[in-house]
Amino acid sequence: MAHPLEVRVISKRFELPNSAALQTYLATEGYEALRKALQMTPERIIEEVKASALRGRGGAGFPAGMKWSFVPRQSPKPRYIVGNADEGEPGTCKDRLLMEYDPHQLIEGMLIAGLAVDAHKGYIYIRGEYRYLMDILDGAIAEAYEAGFLGQNILGSGFDFDLYTHTGAGSYECGEESALLESLEGKRGYPRIRPPFPAVAGLYQCPTVLSNVETFSAVPAIIRHGGEWYHKLGTPKNGGTRLFALSGHIRRPGVYELPLGIPLRTLIYEVGGGIPADKRVKAVIPGGSSTPLLTEQHLDTPMDFDSLAKLGTFLGSGGVVVMDEDTCMVKVALRIAQFYAHESCGWCIPCREGTAWVHKLLARFHAGSGVESDIELAGELAENILGRTFCPLGDAAAMPIISIVKHFRQEFEDHLGGKACPFEARERQLLPA
Ligand SMILES: Cc1cc2nc3c(=O)[nH]c(=O)nc-3n(C[C@H](O)[C@H](O)[C@H](O)COP(=O)(O)O)c2cc1C
Ligand code: SF4
Repeated sequence: MAHPLEVRVISKRFELPNSAALQTYLATEGYEALRKALQMTPERIIEEVKASALRGRGGAGFPAGMKWSFVPRQSPKPRYIVGNADEGEPGTCKDRLLMEYDPHQLIEGMLIAGLAVDAHKGYIYIRGEYRYLMDILDGAIAEAYEAGFLGQNILGSGFDFDLYTHTGAGSYECGEESALLESLEGKRGYPRIRPPFPAVAGLYQCPTVLSNVETFSAVPAIIRHGGEWYHKLGTPKNGGTRLFALSGHIRRPGVYELPLGIPLRTLIYEVGGGIPADKRVKAVIPGGSSTPLLTEQHLDTPMDFDSLAKLGTFLGSGGVVVMDEDTCMVKVALRIAQFYAHESCGWCIPCREGTAWVHKLLARFHAGSGVESDIELAGELAENILGRTFCPLGDAAAMPIISIVKHFRQEFEDHLGGKACPFEARERQLLPA
């Protein structure tokens, strides 16, 4: 059930019976935006997306309309549309809902992007673990072909567009746009040097609009109701709504569609119902595991790209993880470090070696074998990864560790002297004998 504070634009069909079916989509304004876009010039479509202030939902928050405008439409090369459905960022689980419950919305958004940049082929790159979604998406694509929304001469307009699904094999790095393109081309998922960016040299070195599933899913509503309408749902520089995946120590975890700029406190206490047993918030991951953490003092921060950037962190993928006062932050750092050490693709030394060292150090530290200088060393190792790697995974690995060491130094000190983790010791005391 929707929370009263939710503004359901892209999730409005989630609870309809048979929501993924074409029939349901058509009964709820489905493909109306495509019909409208077919009457518009590419420039007009791009202007509308620009007016919406839609910013990429994959992590970096780059303005979508601007990205589309960078694609050289007169290029003799073919152009491509790629949907990033890799959704590998820990704490994030919203694209799967968009694909499971409303696949036609994504298809329509990608079609409109195709019209805007004169592309005639699109791919949806799905993470390996989401293989079950392939059936749903392939079914929806087949329905769209059957009904004349995909294929040759769409709705008699002369516009052709083919769409395919493709799975990855479970690599976090393959969510990074250039590694994704390599993987989609059938190669090992190593990132590419940038520039050039995908808008100019993307799939098969051709101009490509590569965006997150949520970004494309917002496009039909923008075209249907106008960019200004969508823009006004959010803040001046952060148009619209976004799906927040709320998890961790929270009474009502879930994926909620809320206006950008909603205060973190409202998200946790009103939408999420607060912390179980009325405990205090110790830390919050605001936008997936690669974003520096917030603490209780930041609860009044508006959840939008710019307000979080002012605090040195990011809205990222919208995965908000809440941690209560009993959480061991050394263990949190260890768990994050373990993930990045495992997911480093190994291409460049600072990331390959640095993430492994941070992980080893924190594992030893959390087990009670740390010494005081390790606290400094953990931060230094992370600082030496930051800004020195081939792709942004290195920064993603370093930033949360730096922020945990900075905000929670005392907890590291509490692990010194050969003591076991103080939080685990407390947990053991609370367990029945
Ligand atoms: C290591 C790494 C993993 C990423 N994983 C994803 C992902 O799973 N999904 C996604 O949409 N973007 C991911 N991104 C961001 C993409 O590189 C890219 O910026 C994004 O897909 C662009 O779409 P947008 O403009 O709609 O945000 C990742 C970036 C990095 C550095
Ligand atoms: S930072 Fe380097 S090693 Fe790490 S994932 Fe990127 S290219 Fe691979």
